Amino acid sequence: MAEEIITHSSEETVQWGREFAKRLKPPVLVLLTGDLGTGKTTLTKGLVSGLGAANENDVTSPTFTLVHVYGKQAEVFHADLYRIETFHDFETLGLEDMFGVPAVAILEWSEKFPLPSPWPVLRVRLEHLGGDTRRISVLDPP
Ligand SMILES: Nc1ncnc2c1ncn2[C@@H]1O[C@H](COP(=O)(O)OP(=O)(O)OP(=O)(O)O)[C@@H](O)[C@H]1O
Ligand SMILES: [Mg+2]
Repeated sequence: MAEEIITHSSEETVQWGREFAKRLKPPVLVLLTGDLGTGKTTLTKGLVSGLGAANENDVTSPTFTLVHVYGKQAEVFHADLYRIETFHDFETLGLEDMFGVPAVAILEWSEKFPLPSPWPVLRVRLEHLGGDTRRISVLDPP
């Protein structure tokens, strides 16, 4: 059974992310799925700050920059496939370079293209439940 939590504010989502970060042992790939504005970047603020790689205020959306790197030794990668339109562009991005050193890699809009991962994968789905309410599900491996 997938593990689920309901949050009622962005602060709650960040806080849950901080707790969840304790379970992330590098190397691991965290695939985030969910519609626009469900809180993937917000959750990442909690993950990155919980891992001690950066302050949550320094975690911003990689929608346009595509990949952000947090931490002095590049402990956390944060990427976003939202603007990637073709499989060719996806391949050109070279995301597999993230897998060079054991780290935590977080991918928004991961459902757009499949990223073969040599690392264990965790899938987290975010859903709108109206207003500021969100459901966050840690999905079972397929
Ligand atoms: N419970 C909640 N959890 C997370 N964010 C929330 C919640 N309630 C309201 N929000 C608001 O929803 C928005 C979520 O934006 P965020 O950029 O994190 O989403 P996203 O899933 O990364 O979107 P995108 O697909 O554009 O990258 C923020 O403005 C945040 O303040
Ligand atoms: Mg985002």
